[in-house]
Order: sequence, then C-alpha cells, then structure tokens
Amino acid sequence: MLVLGIESSCDETGIALYDTEKGLLGHTLHSQIELHSFYGGVVPELASRDHIKYIIPLIDQLLKDSSITIDSIDSIAYTAGPGLSGALLVGCSLAEALAYALNVPSIPVHHLEGHLLAPMLEEDKPSFPFLALLVSGGHTQLIDVKEIGQYEILGDTLDDAAGEAFDKTAKLLGLGYPGGAALSELAEKGITEFELPRPLLNTHGLNFSFSGLKTAVLTLVKKQTKLTNTIKENIAFAFQESITDVLVKKSIKALKQTGYNKIVVSGGVGANKRLREKLRFHSKNENFKVYFPKLEFCTDNGAMIALAGALRAHLSSKNNYKFSVQPRWKLSEIESTF
Ligand code: KG4
Ligand code: ZN
Repeated sequence: MLVLGIESSCDETGIALYDTEKGLLGHTLHSQIELHSFYGGVVPELASRDHIKYIIPLIDQLLKDSSITIDSIDSIAYTAGPGLSGALLVGCSLAEALAYALNVPSIPVHHLEGHLLAPMLEEDKPSFPFLALLVSGGHTQLIDVKEIGQYEILGDTLDDAAGEAFDKTAKLLGLGYPGGAALSELAEKGITEFELPRPLLNTHGLNFSFSGLKTAVLTLVKKQTKLTNTIKENIAFAFQESITDVLVKKSIKALKQTGYNKIVVSGGVGANKRLREKLRFHSKNENFKVYFPKLEFCTDNGAMIALAGALRAHLSSKNNYKFSVQPRWKLSEIESTF
C-alpha cells in the first residue's frame, strides 16, 4: 500500500510517500521558521497562508522526484490535530479532496502519534509495547505505548513543555526563535559555572515542571552585570544539564515502573545531543535500549504522518470526505474521535 502523508499542523509543511513493503520512498519539507521569526513566535494566519502556497507544489515535486504517478497512491494520511485550526484545515481539505478525486481512503492522524511512531521509520525499529518520551514544543509526556492507538499517559508537564522551556531560555539569552537548537549549540561551548534547579526530580511521580527553571534562568540573567558570551554559554550549559537530567531520571523511573526495557524518544527536543548522550550512557548501565528517529524526523515532518497512516489504515473507518479537524485532541482520546 502506498500512502501519501501530509503534515500541516503548525509551521512546517511536510509531505511524504510511504510504502508498506518498501518503507519511506521520499519526503519533502518547507519550514516557515524564517517567516515567523520576526514575530518571535508562530502567527497562525501567516502559517495557514504559507501552507496553502506550498502544499501542492511540494506534492507535485515529491511525486516527480520519486517517479510516482498520483494515481498509484492507495490512501492519504494527514494530520487532523492537535495544532492550529487554520493550518490543520489546509492539510485536511487538500487530503480529503484528493482522496475523493482519486477514490481512495483518507486517514486522519494524530500529530503526536506521528511523533511517537517516528522511530519506526528506522531500520532498527522498536516493537510494541514500549515506553515513549515525547518532548516537543508543546508536549512533554511519558507514554506507555501498548499497541497502535493504545496509549497511556504516565507523566505530563504541569506547566511549560521541554521545547517551550528551551525556546524561552533561548529568548532570554538573545537567541532567535525557536531557539532550542541554537541554545543547545551554545551549551556545547559552556562549562560548569552556574547551578540551576532540577524541578520535581524526586517528587510528583512521573510529572514534570519547567516554568520554575525558566524563572531561575531569568533571575540568573538579571544578576549578571554584563551578559558576556562566556556567561551565556555557561548559562546555556547549566540549563541543558538541568533539563536533560530531569528528563533522563524520570524516563528511567518510568522504565522501572512499566517493566519495559525499550524507550523511544521523539519530538523536536529528541534532537538534543546531550539528551541523546545521557540516555545512551544510562542505557548501557541500566540495561535498556533507546530508539531515536533520525534528526530530520524529530521535528515536524510528513514521513511520520505517512507511517502512522500506514500503521493505522486498518483501524480507520473514516471515508466520508468531511473537512473536520481537532485543534485540541488528547492522545488518550485518539480512538473516540474519528
Ligand atoms: O516536534 P516539534 O518540531 O514541534 C512541535 O510539535 O512542538 O518541536 C519543536 C521544538 C521547539 O521548541 C524547538 O526549540 C525544539 O523542539 N528543538 C530542540 C532542538 N531542536 C529542536 N530543543 C533542544 N535541542 C535541540 N537540538
Ligand atoms: Zn510536532
């Protein structure tokens, strides 16, 4: 089965072709980061307009590059939520219209399910069940992934998401938006000079809280008479050490709680080198295996949506070509919605 995947939930237009026999045939992406960076965050109306501008040319280009004709597509998977409603509607209406025109099924996909399953795009893929650490701009969750569509949230953030904390700290240090990757690069040059809190490290079960950490960075920044490059590097270093320590410690706790020996890390913050390094180090000592998607599949992309669509094609009963999206959609309610 050949699945066309369409991602348009936020500021990335992602398109991919996934074949259930051959795997990923190709993918392409247009990022709107430059468009929104001037405003310091995503402007929903601009995001929708940009998706409209790029979505069809990207599909055309991918089909051409993969030497595939549009009528060989067997089904169309698209992100139906959560995300920005206007942006989601662009992907949804195109996917539904195309599915109608080609007379093939459409498969609405939960964006976070896409992230969760992204490590399955790799050759060495995890098998169900496994633990997932989902760390993105909007989410920080530890999830018991029992089977496709069966997700139990074991831990969640009580306030800011990990990516949000990276972005807010990056902003305090004068890095652009979204600054997660830039902050991480800066941290690589830093050394131990400052100590920042590790919120909820030993309390609140598997839940997280990162807003206090951001406030601690703000206090530290205000205390400096001059924010030199070296100080910035050392603050970035301290921040990254704190946040990755908490993410790793809670992940190991969740592995012990579930009895699983496999953890999948996904979402934009999953691209963080230090997080990867620490998890790999502990996986050797504590005897578990850690799976990461390729860096390009950590952040939003069409490949994870095409894959999720392929894996849940047999579950999806929707074939009514209706334009309906779910801007707010809990992963635990995935089966009851469409
Ligand atoms: O998964 P994603 O592309 O979008 C959401 O669904 O949220 O994640 C984006 C988030 C942003 O907060 C970004 O700053 C963060 O992932 N991010 C990183 C890194 N690369 C992206 N955070 C830390 N280190 C990185 N290398
Ligand atoms: Zn995402």
